[in-house]
Amino acid sequence: MSKSRKLELHKLLKLHDEAYYRYGKPTISDQEYDRLKREFETIDQDEDPLGLFDDNIYTKESSDFNVGDDRLKEFLSHAHIVPMLSLDNTYDRKDFFDFDKRLSKTLQSSSFSYTIEPKIDGVAVSLTYDNGALSTATTRGNGVEGDVITQNIMHIHELPKVIKSKEFPSAIEIRGEIYMGHEEFYRINEERKKNGLDLYANPRNLTAGTVKLLDPKEASQRQLKIVVYGMGAIEPEDRFSCQSDFSNSLKDWGFPTVDFFEIANSVNDAWGSICQLEKIRNSFSYPTDGAVIKLNSFALQKLAGNTSKAPRWAIAYKFESERQQTLLEAIELQVGRTGAITPVAHLKPVQLAGTIVSRASLHNADEIKRKDLRIGDTVVVEKAGEIIPQVIGFIEKLRQKESQSYKFPVNCPCCRTRLERHVGEAAWRCPNLDCNDQVKGRLEYYASRGCMNIDNLGEAVISQLVEKLNVKNLADLYILSKGQLLKLDGFAEKSADNLLNSIQQSKKALFWRFICGLGIKHVGSSASKLLVNKFRNIDGIINATEEHLSALEGIGEKMASSIHDFFSKEENLQMIALLKYEGLNLKELDSNKEKLPLTRKSFVLTGSLVNFTRDNAALKIESLGGKVSSSVSKNTNFLVAGPGAGSKLEKAKQLNVEILTEEEFLNIIKDTNS
Ligand code: IVH
Repeated sequence: MSKSRKLELHKLLKLHDEAYYRYGKPTISDQEYDRLKREFETIDQDEDPLGLFDDNIYTKESSDFNVGDDRLKEFLSHAHIVPMLSLDNTYDRKDFFDFDKRLSKTLQSSSFSYTIEPKIDGVAVSLTYDNGALSTATTRGNGVEGDVITQNIMHIHELPKVIKSKEFPSAIEIRGEIYMGHEEFYRINEERKKNGLDLYANPRNLTAGTVKLLDPKEASQRQLKIVVYGMGAIEPEDRFSCQSDFSNSLKDWGFPTVDFFEIANSVNDAWGSICQLEKIRNSFSYPTDGAVIKLNSFALQKLAGNTSKAPRWAIAYKFESERQQTLLEAIELQVGRTGAITPVAHLKPVQLAGTIVSRASLHNADEIKRKDLRIGDTVVVEKAGEIIPQVIGFIEKLRQKESQSYKFPVNCPCCRTRLERHVGEAAWRCPNLDCNDQVKGRLEYYASRGCMNIDNLGEAVISQLVEKLNVKNLADLYILSKGQLLKLDGFAEKSADNLLNSIQQSKKALFWRFICGLGIKHVGSSASKLLVNKFRNIDGIINATEEHLSALEGIGEKMASSIHDFFSKEENLQMIALLKYEGLNLKELDSNKEKLPLTRKSFVLTGSLVNFTRDNAALKIESLGGKVSSSVSKNTNFLVAGPGAGSKLEKAKQLNVEILTEEEFLNIIKDTNS
């Protein structure tokens, strides 16, 4: 390997660390990252006479910024009693057998047993229980202390909050992993897509983002799960003698534990269990990227000891993720609502880890250039975090002689305007605000559930409104006529009436939803709520100075500047004037003067509902002036409990909170409507 390759790898690893840790947007899979790292580490010392590469080791920690540390200043810190270490990992069978040899040597024996369990690809957490009650949930942080995220995971139904068993230790740190199921991951990403927001690359990233949300209510709307497997500090200290006893007790105490747990008395048996685990791991509800093999005996674990980063008594054997070859048939360029151009690979459909893959994001122009991908190439695809397909690279041998480097277009694929790239941004953008694709994106965002929630106004209808009826902005929606709609494909009397009705209804939507729906850069639902609370009506927001905006807690300089920019543009002001004229609700309702039927009533929703999604039920309550919280307290007025309700129902009973079935809830809503 040449020195220049090593330098190149060093730079690449740094770039990927930054994408992963700083921006939460990895562009390669963990496997691919580990491969680059291994390639880096195989460099011959002789080729690095200057010792440029720090003992030939690239660790994430040696990168420029503090990547090993997840702590944020907004969170309280909590010190771990026993530090949270990481694990050495390998993809190589021989390394695993070498690990066993090393241990035999250290322990001067080969008659010890191992435990084999899945390595869960989630976010590490340490749970502290005092006298049986959950007191804190803490992230790994820097391993010594982490962020307190208790409030953001309290809604995890399966997480025991109080353990009554007499056998439970008086104080204990229980280690586990928070994760998100595939369906929830898809649900949230689908919603983000509809709302024009960036997508999360994999469930682990989304989980990491969720446990660090500043608003626990927001966190409670994302379904997290937990599985526990390990022990930190414990009192009394000698309560358990081995991992398998501890694991059994975790189950008895009611914790969700791993689905596969085997004890092996030899390295060969352990290897057999690892292979067996690899075969069935797709059937687990959590993402698994390997097996963790630990010495079973705690006394022997102590004897083997730890390095500064990882225990010597455990190793992770990581599974290679499945890869496939397929043809890169085309590169499509999508224009987002902000004008950003995203290249998407169109692939010859191929079966990969359980699904058929035919598209993959190529992220941006630099990414295509870096990988030198060309249309007609045979490419290798892999699923990042086992979920989102990534194009890893092309197969040189199969490249056609006449193939040509991909030229990223200079003009917008939709309106032909010359593309621009702003300093510090990876994306090329179309600067034409009237570009049809951008208009469609803005309308979709405005109508989406997270904003105005306009029924019957989906992607296909919006596309026709823009293409055939020349709808250019939000105000044009409110002057559509039935006659116009009847000219569109798929519209008849009833569907046209339904759409016009939904558009009319949206005039009454809460003011923050309107502000959010404007799609101002960096302004999501939380910032919109803040703005309407502070300024009360549209004129207040329009007239706010940049200084005034940035002085508000929760509105940073970047946000203040984009809000100010938005309301300085003549075309936006004109559009808002038209919307005002059409009678949209552009002010925050004063709850004293304009009393709504559910004003000051607080609801909690639990279990599954038949007639609504929980989001929609919450919207309905909000639109009637009520509030929806994630946890039951003495201030809760009603708990709406569907089938599957658990701890919230118990708590509501204890606190004498009125409990409603879905039917009773429907009746309340009906009554308020009449
Ligand atoms: S035991 C001292 N068991 O993977 C560390 N860790 O990449 C002992 N992980 O830090 C950890 N599943 O956060 C253990 N079954 C499992 C695990 C597991 C996932 C995490 C854990 C660890 C990281 C290392």
